[in-house]
Amino acid sequence: MYAREIVPASLKTQFVIVTLCLSLSVCSDLKVLVRLNDGQITEELLQADSQRDTITLEFKQRDGTLITFLADFQRHVKIFRAFVLGEPERGQTQYQALCFITWLDHREIIPTEAMARLRQKNAHLVRAAEERRGVEELSMNVAVNLTRAGHLSSHIHNVCREAQDLVYTRQDDLKHWLDIGVDGSMFEVLTQKPGTPGLQDCSSTEDPWKPCACSYQLSLEWYPCLLKYCRGQGSRPYKCGIKSCSKGFRFNFYTPHKQLCLWDEDS
Ligand SMILES: *[C@@H]1O[C@H](CO)[C@@H](O)[C@H](O)[C@H]1NC(C)=O
Repeated sequence: MYAREIVPASLKTQFVIVTLCLSLSVCSDLKVLVRLNDGQITEELLQADSQRDTITLEFKQRDGTLITFLADFQRHVKIFRAFVLGEPERGQTQYQALCFITWLDHREIIPTEAMARLRQKNAHLVRAAEERRGVEELSMNVAVNLTRAGHLSSHIHNVCREAQDLVYTRQDDLKHWLDIGVDGSMFEVLTQKPGTPGLQDCSSTEDPWKPCACSYQLSLEWYPCLLKYCRGQGSRPYKCGIKSCSKGFRFNFYTPHKQLCLWDEDS
């Protein structure tokens, strides 16, 4: 099934896209060992759902934070969720959920159909991305009403449920979605946002109940970002593997209480 003979040597220890699938359930899950930027190794779970045309990626950081990323190809939506652990002994909640929704460009990640057929030769190998794509800075100035978010993507409600009031998107993305006819009533453009005079950074705010400008950074350290093509004997090029990328995302957003920006404490 691995088409060993025609896969070039450089790809032999990497990833292959199998051309045959026995059943959907065996075809959709991939567990990959990934080195995070603090040197820690984590197990990343990649799931492809061909029917709903989504890819989900999930891993835990050393500090216990659970990061989930979902790409909804049908609706051009990508969702980032972070479950950040709090310190109840310091009066914080058990955990803080954050949800960020932005426009998905289909070229950012490989298609679901290819992801569903992706296999690795050596599951014990710790992976590092071939291409580092830096850190993208995002101003999340629009609040998304979870009750109505189903009009944008049916996955938002499930993924973002625990984040409640901390579900945000960007003003630029909002324009994209309104252009393709998404119902605008689920969005609220915030007048108070990072950069507004008088709104302090959370890191320099003392009062836990004061509003402030919060910022959260996460990194997808390993995801399949491009398809590689190989050429057989004189035949047309065919998909035979992937290129992996890493990318950081820094989300800047308004929070009604400093208390909801737990991690900005000591910076
Ligand atoms: C969100 O939408 C629901 C249903 O339309 C509405 O009842 C609720 O008040 C809205 N929430 C906010 C914060 O606007």
